[in-house]
Amino acid sequence: MNYYLLVVSILWFVTYSSGQDAWQLGPFIKQDDVNPTLHPRNDTFFLCPIQGRPIAWEEKDVFNPTALVKDGLLHLLYRAEDTVGTHFGTSRIGLAISTDGLTFTRLTTPIFYPADDAALPAEWDGGCEDPRIVESPTGTYFMTYTAYNGDMARLFVASSPDLLTWTKHGPAFGPQYVNMSSKAGAIVTRLVGERFVAERINGFYWMYFGDTNAFIATSSDLISWSPLTSPDGDPDKYNLTMVLRPRPGYFDSRLNEPGPQAVIRDGVDGILLIYNGMNYNETMGGDPNIPEDTYSAGQALFNASNPIQLISRTEEYFMTPDKPYEEVGQVGNVVFLEGLVRYKGAWFLYYGTADSKIAVAKTDA
Ligand SMILES: *[C@@H]1O[C@H](CO)[C@@H](O)[C@H](O)[C@H]1NC(C)=O
Ligand SMILES: *[C@@H]1O[C@H](CO)[C@@H](O)[C@H](O)[C@H]1NC(C)=O
Ligand SMILES: *[C@@H]1O[C@H](CO)[C@@H](O)[C@H](O)[C@H]1NC(C)=O
Ligand SMILES: *[C@@H]1O[C@H](CO)[C@@H](O)[C@H](O)[C@H]1NC(C)=O
Ligand SMILES: *[C@@H]1O[C@H](CO)[C@@H](O)[C@H](O)[C@H]1NC(C)=O
Repeated sequence: MNYYLLVVSILWFVTYSSGQDAWQLGPFIKQDDVNPTLHPRNDTFFLCPIQGRPIAWEEKDVFNPTALVKDGLLHLLYRAEDTVGTHFGTSRIGLAISTDGLTFTRLTTPIFYPADDAALPAEWDGGCEDPRIVESPTGTYFMTYTAYNGDMARLFVASSPDLLTWTKHGPAFGPQYVNMSSKAGAIVTRLVGERFVAERINGFYWMYFGDTNAFIATSSDLISWSPLTSPDGDPDKYNLTMVLRPRPGYFDSRLNEPGPQAVIRDGVDGILLIYNGMNYNETMGGDPNIPEDTYSAGQALFNASNPIQLISRTEEYFMTPDKPYEEVGQVGNVVFLEGLVRYKGAWFLYYGTADSKIAVAKTDA
């Protein structure tokens, strides 16, 4: 091998062999010593304002958490299901706090739940699911969550000054979308210190949402959102503009669902979206090497000047179920990534395992 070929080979190896381009986050290492870091528990009770009696609100399953850093503490806001609700349990949102990102202290009552308010018809009795939280530039917390009444899942918005007291703002989208199912609202942010702050691009806030193709919406106040539509949009879904589509033969062949908040990445001029991809069966073009219906995770990069434009996406998943508690549970073969923080010099990812427990993966730096 001549010298030139050797140099080219080494450059190629350094660039591609890690399987990871510079724009991607990772590698993330599952923290086996603590995982799963949150389990359901049956010794915490909550006086449900609808049923008027104490409910073991996190007895059945805990999963799909969002995460953020506040006052130097890592806050995990997670979905908890009871055994009472008639649609696989009623979901409420609990809060757990950590100083190392690995082990948590939990509040004994949920901080967000169906109550006697205007959202109740949309939330009872499936509940409040799958939170994602970002900060506004003035320090208010905005949460997107799925309101589920057992009939239709809809993306809703709430806000809070302190993560404990919340104002429900109702549906993210206008009345023309009242009969459209929607979920998984990942708002575009920038990392400021250890806080993820929503950032305007071309005058608007932006949000990726799902969950078949990924779609996109804009807002001027982080409360009311307008989905983008186009002539070549999804004909089965109100002509919504499709920004990320399932790929035949890949881990994400059945559906693509946004994961944690999206992040503008300095240095690569792009918006990073970690997303959850579901595999189809072989007949329908799934990856034959992955079990049908498995949820694995990928990463996508969008243009930071034009958030609808996909620039790149991972060829392979970077996380897939391979632990017993990821393979077996309420819904088997699921890692569902929803919490991303930068904390004490490392990236932490929090994810639901088999819709039953919560696990953590982190980078070394
Ligand atoms: C509560 O959970 C503990 C630990 O998982 C279990 O041993 C116990 O049987 C449960 N109690 C009830 C009343 O379900
Ligand atoms: C939503 O569905 C209901 C019940 O089918 C119907 O009455 C209503 O007109 C629909 N609204 C819109 C905006 O499509
Ligand atoms: C979607 O676009 C088609 C073709 O332009 C149109 O006929 C249809 O009414 C649109 N659907 C919705 C829900 O806007
Ligand atoms: C694959 O999925 C399609 C659509 O859900 C279904 O109709 C078909 O029966 C499935 N095939 C197999 C082999 O499971
Ligand atoms: C990103 O979008 C801007 C504005 O539309 C465009 O000028 C630029 O070429 C795009 N970048 C890439 C990598 O396509």
